[in-house]
Amino acid sequence: MARILVLHGPNLNLLGTREPQLYGQTALTAIDQELQRRAAAAGHELEVFQSNHEGALVDCIQQRGAQAALLIINPGAYTHTSVAIRDAILAVGLPVLEVHLSNIHRREPFRQQSYLADIALGQVVGFGPASYMLALQAACHWLEEQAAQASQAG
Ligand code: DQA
Repeated sequence: MARILVLHGPNLNLLGTREPQLYGQTALTAIDQELQRRAAAAGHELEVFQSNHEGALVDCIQQRGAQAALLIINPGAYTHTSVAIRDAILAVGLPVLEVHLSNIHRREPFRQQSYLADIALGQVVGFGPASYMLALQAACHWLEEQAAQASQAG
């Protein structure tokens, strides 16, 4: 059993009503509930936090990151601007998976740059709310591999 931390950045609290043609019609609470259900079924604990404020996300990474085995994060617009979120993740040494509902690589040039891409285990982009579910699946797979490697090492 591992603890997975899930962070959502600015404006993701508006999912469901915010530009549904881009981000879908599913509310964030529904995404979080489904993530909780799937994580529990896989035997993991999942903690979720959303904020519209960069500093609050940094505080959360500092305070809760140390107890987590892995971070799944959709930093929203901070993806393209935040050295502070990147540095917080590096500071606590947290393995990170980057998630986006839309395919940021097919959008405006400013969205094609991510401050997390080169420190992430991987990215899941473009599948709407399913991006989160696929990221959780990838997280569970990665955690299993880590556990297998640790038990081999002895
Ligand atoms: C987003 C993409 C970002 O560019 C945007 O600012 C968001 C949502 C996504 O999930 O597709 O807020 O992170």
